[in-house]
Amino acid sequence: MESSTEQAASSRTLLIWFSRDGENYWEGGRRDLAVGNTERLARLITERIEVQEYEVVPADPYPEAYDPTVERNVREQNADARPAIAGELPDAQDFDTLLIGSPVWNVRAPMILSALVESLDLTGMRVLPFVTYAVSGMAGIDRDYREVLPDAEVADGLAIRGEDVEAEGTAAEVEAWLRDNNLL
Ligand SMILES: Cc1cc2nc3c(=O)[nH]c(=O)nc-3n(C[C@H](O)[C@H](O)[C@H](O)COP(=O)(O)O)c2cc1C
Repeated sequence: MESSTEQAASSRTLLIWFSRDGENYWEGGRRDLAVGNTERLARLITERIEVQEYEVVPADPYPEAYDPTVERNVREQNADARPAIAGELPDAQDFDTLLIGSPVWNVRAPMILSALVESLDLTGMRVLPFVTYAVSGMAGIDRDYREVLPDAEVADGLAIRGEDVEAEGTAAEVEAWLRDNNLL
C-alpha cells in the first residue's frame, strides 16, 4: 500500500508512449500484433506506478503492413520530418518526471517522437526513455534525447526486445528500472 506522500509524488509522473499495432517484425519473421509491443511495455509500467498517460497518435496513421511502414519511416528520416500529432499535447510542466516510450525505428526513435519532444516544455524535468526493439537495443536513443533536451535531465533508458515484453523476467526488469529511478 502506497503512502499518500508517495501517491502525490507519483501523480507528478507523465507517461507518454507511441506504439504501432498491425504487422510487425517477430523473431525474424512477421506477426500481426493486436496491441503494439511498446504499448504492452507501457502497461507493465502503469500496472505498477501511478502516472498520467498520453498516447502519441499520428494525425496520418502508419500503415498496417510492415514494409510500407519501414519505407515511410525512411522517407521521414531522410527528410528530417516532423509528422503531425493528432489532438492536444499535455502540459509537461505540470509534472516532474516524463517516462517516454517508443519502438526503435531504423536505429533511432520514430520522427514523431522528435515532433513530440520539440513541442513540449521539458525544462527542469527528469526524462526516462524506454524502448522496444528487435535487434538494436537502446540504439543511443537516450543519448539522442540528452542532446536535444539540454535543459532536462535525461536518465539512461530501458530497452526491452519486443518479443520479450511478456517474457518471464521482464516485469522484474521494469520494476528494477523504476526502483533505480525512485519511482517504486
Ligand atoms: C518502421 C520500423 C523500423 C524498425 N527498425 C528497427 C531497428 O532499426 N532496430 C530494431 O531493433 N528494431 C526495429 N524495428 C522493430 C521494432 O522496433 C520492434 O518490433 C518494436 O518492438 C515495435 O514496437 P511497437 O509494436 O510498439 O511499434 C522496426 C520496426 C518498424 C515497424
